[in-house]
Amino acid sequence: MEESPAVVERVTLRPAVVGDVELILDLVNELATAGEMLPRSPSTTVERLRDFVVAEVDGEFAGCGALALVWTDIAEVRSIAVKPEYRKLGVGKRMAESLLAEAKRLGVARVMAFTYVTDFFLKLGFQVVDHASLPHKVFHDCLNCPKFHKCDEVAVAKDIFALPDAPPLGPLSLPMPGRHLPRPAQ
Ligand SMILES: CC(C)(COP(=O)(O)OP(=O)(O)OC[C@H]1O[C@@H](n2cnc3c(N)ncnc32)[C@H](O)[C@@H]1OP(=O)(O)O)[C@@H](O)C(=O)NCCC(=O)NCCS
Repeated sequence: MEESPAVVERVTLRPAVVGDVELILDLVNELATAGEMLPRSPSTTVERLRDFVVAEVDGEFAGCGALALVWTDIAEVRSIAVKPEYRKLGVGKRMAESLLAEAKRLGVARVMAFTYVTDFFLKLGFQVVDHASLPHKVFHDCLNCPKFHKCDEVAVAKDIFALPDAPPLGPLSLPMPGRHLPRPAQ
């Protein structure tokens, strides 16, 4: 009998299309209800759809993940999620690697995430960092977060490129100074 191909060979990644919006919202918001991640609204999902990669297994929607540009020197991995039946098969890793490759293509030096699954990110080369070591810009979306006053997510970050004037990553790193391009007046 012919062996079926390993799941990893049946996984394909592609940019999200409008037909994925409902699938993304169903997955992310179901996991949010279970307390595993933060919810997304339909409007931000549509507006940020071009940030998303979708994973399929045998052509079926298996998960999604987004890379949001925060500023010229930092991007955030958001809403990375795999349907429970496709977990621990490398699907999340494939999507995260694709988002990191996108950050590299864009020339973004640092990628960060707020997460409850620290070990998943550590295995991808991220480090745990102090929330206070991240630039204020990354907290913009936190203003709309139900956990704004009691954030229990772990901040993780990974350097894609070394920046000469950036402090090293780590729990004791200092706030990143503004650099390269002038920031708009607040
Ligand atoms: C986190 C999540 C995306 C991982 O997806 P996945 O497809 O199961 O992950 P992978 O199979 O690619 O795992 C890659 C590695 O991370 C590890 N890993 C995956 N999930 C983990 C978890 N919850 N805790 C610890 N390690 C985990 C795997 O064991 C694997 O390690 P290995 O390379 O040594 O074998 C998935 O569990 C999920 O959707 N969780 C709920 C949503 C969520 O928490 N998203 C993160 C928001 S920031």
